Amino acid sequence: MNKDNINRRAFLERLGSIGALTAAAGAFPWFQSCTPKATDETKGNVARLGIIGPGSRGLLHIRHLLDIDNAKIVALCDNYPANLEKAAALVPGAKLYTDWRKLLEDKEVDGVIIATPLHLHYEMTIAALEAGKHVFCEKAMAYTQEQCLEMYRKHQQTGKVLIIGQQRMFDPKYLLAMKRIRSGEFGPVVNVRGYWFRNGDWRREVPADHPELERHINWRLYREYSRGLMTELACHQLQNGTWATGMLPEKVIGTGNLVYWKDGREVQDSVCCIYTFPNGVNMTFESVISNKHLGMGESILCKEATIDLPGNRIYREHATYKSGMHHLITDIEKGIFSSTAFAGTSWAADNNRDLHGEVILEDAVPGIEGDGSIELMQTFCNSVISGEQPKDVLEEGYYGSILCLMGDDAILQERTVKMEKDWII
Ligand SMILES: NC(=O)c1ccc[n+]([C@@H]2O[C@H](COP(=O)([O-])OP(=O)(O)OC[C@H]3O[C@@H](n4cnc5c(N)ncnc54)[C@H](O)[C@@H]3O)[C@@H](O)[C@H]2O)c1
Repeated sequence: MNKDNINRRAFLERLGSIGALTAAAGAFPWFQSCTPKATDETKGNVARLGIIGPGSRGLLHIRHLLDIDNAKIVALCDNYPANLEKAAALVPGAKLYTDWRKLLEDKEVDGVIIATPLHLHYEMTIAALEAGKHVFCEKAMAYTQEQCLEMYRKHQQTGKVLIIGQQRMFDPKYLLAMKRIRSGEFGPVVNVRGYWFRNGDWRREVPADHPELERHINWRLYREYSRGLMTELACHQLQNGTWATGMLPEKVIGTGNLVYWKDGREVQDSVCCIYTFPNGVNMTFESVISNKHLGMGESILCKEATIDLPGNRIYREHATYKSGMHHLITDIEKGIFSSTAFAGTSWAADNNRDLHGEVILEDAVPGIEGDGSIELMQTFCNSVISGEQPKDVLEEGYYGSILCLMGDDAILQERTVKMEKDWII
């Protein structure tokens, strides 16, 4: 066991000792499947895995799997030699494939991790489940709602595990916050805000001597392979909205445009969608990739507080405001600032909203607590060994994907898109 692994295990064990998190894990049963107890139950067994598409995300999964005791990467497949070589260097001894169908014939592979571009998820997942493999497929689940549904049905028919890459479901601060939101502690949810702002062209470098690789490498920018910001970014925020409210939106309107990066791409660089839940609550998703000031946000607005999930903070509506001087002294006492300029508005007195907030997960350990990605991999390994589908995890991922596809349909077709009965599972 390497150092990171020991730290991660210690971290999970420590979390297990936080009463609130134990209760949260009980409320969201998929989390049980990555606890030390669940991992101990699979002891002595190994999940033999094949990775299809070890590009940027796939390589991260490989790094995490190398830290997981009961994971063994036995096969790698990529049709881009440079990426296959990078992965092979991390896992010497793994069998190498350039044809994913051949990897699926490999009897030593129990489960596959599919981290290829969006348009391939459906075909690869269906074939893998039919070949008797357990499947972890990256988000978004597939290119159309119908494909997502077929993947779900295929998982049901074959009885093989299917997990979609929604790592926030395994992030301890999200689990704690969602438990409290769902308990009604902050009053009813009145609005959900998701956004992702970046300032960059979203392009990957194409080798100068191989310009023909443009579409292979920059698949995100072309409609044949991707549905742009909605499938590549929005799934996480939209899944949080259904998780927090316990409801599915019934409709969405949206607009999207190419505002800045007019470089031959086919997907928008600016989108804005409004989803409406049956009780009238709105959930927005907005993304722009030519201004990053607002960053990435997932806020649950309740009657009594706003919960900033990635920021690990709860902002009360009726916080007791103290003077700016009081804030300053407290901040220096807590070591938040070693010194503070007596200018600017960051600690301005009583500006009528809570700027400081309460921390959600008090003793998060910097550098160890991640975003849930390694716990998601641990869950997949445990599930491959036990053959048991973790509860609710696929359904959450499925609806996250259905919603981002509905949003993109609304943008493209310039109409209100309603949740169809056929998509309800
Ligand atoms: N969960 C998350 O937070 C998260 C983050 C990033 C990416 N992703 C998802 O992961 C997936 C991959 O994204 P990425 O950024 O790693 O892309 P990438 O382009 O870096 O990697 C994709 C890999 O698939 C390979 N590939 C393409 N066609 C193939 C084929 N026919 N057979 C075998 N290999 C093939 C490519 O050569 C490449 O190595 C996407 O679905 C993306 O949305 C998820």
